[in-house]
Amino acid sequence: MFEVTNLSVSAREKQILREVSLKIGDGKKIVLMGPNGSGKSTMCKTLMGDPSYLVTNGSVNLNGKNITNLPPNEKVKEGLFMVFQEPEGVDGLNILRFLRTAYNKRFPDSKDFLEKLNSIISHIDFNRELLTKELNITLSGGEKKKLEVLQLLLFNPKYALIDEFDSGLDIDGVKAISKIINESKSGFLIVTHNPVVFRYLKVDEVNIIKDGRIIASGGVDLIQKIEKDGFLWAEKKN
Ligand SMILES: Nc1ncnc2c1ncn2[C@@H]1O[C@H](COP(=O)(O)OP(=O)(O)OP(=O)(O)O)[C@@H](O)[C@H]1O
Ligand SMILES: [Mg+2]
Repeated sequence: MFEVTNLSVSAREKQILREVSLKIGDGKKIVLMGPNGSGKSTMCKTLMGDPSYLVTNGSVNLNGKNITNLPPNEKVKEGLFMVFQEPEGVDGLNILRFLRTAYNKRFPDSKDFLEKLNSIISHIDFNRELLTKELNITLSGGEKKKLEVLQLLLFNPKYALIDEFDSGLDIDGVKAISKIINESKSGFLIVTHNPVVFRYLKVDEVNIIKDGRIIASGGVDLIQKIEKDGFLWAEKKN
């Protein structure tokens, strides 16, 4: 169980999240939707341990362990992973070298890096030539997203936070990544703006966030309401 309880977060003296609570059970797929600027990326980045965000209240527990204030590398060791909305580019860092180094740090006793990488590459139809490029420097939006998903599969986390999972992906990419998420045994917190993705993605729960507060939670029927009436619907409800 991944459990966020009454989490309040601020950055540069601005309060962004207000008493947010949610739970991701083992293998469950939980959605976070909301207007631009409502706090979705802040939520993911705070959960992953981004030091730009200050937790002013509440806690984050992973399988009973309080991980609220652990640094990101420790959170990764506990089984957490994040797919970024805008992954950082690093000049001069070769993608293959980056992946190998990160994998060896995470799994120091493992000797199967290349075998695993090759199997993932064929599974998600990743363009192998991109491995020789610099990390997120000249990749297209969809290529960056696929590289993020490649890392997700490489690290095989217990819980994954996936910000704007469909941004930059073409329809074949959306279908392929949806299938991977549907079949994955990991728990997911999935951020998206696009109701169309739910034709392909099977999810267990939908949460609506507005001005840093969860204002509605429920099943996939919430998505149809949002598609019809926008977030105004959830606002009226509260
Ligand atoms: N490091 C920061 N310092 C100050 N303000 C921030 C910081 N990060 C985010 N914010 C502000 O917090 C609010 C929430 O931002 P966030 O990126 O979490 O929104 P979002 O829900 O992911 O939006 P979008 O749908 O556009 O991606 C915004 O008003 C944003 O300007
Ligand atoms: Mg965002």
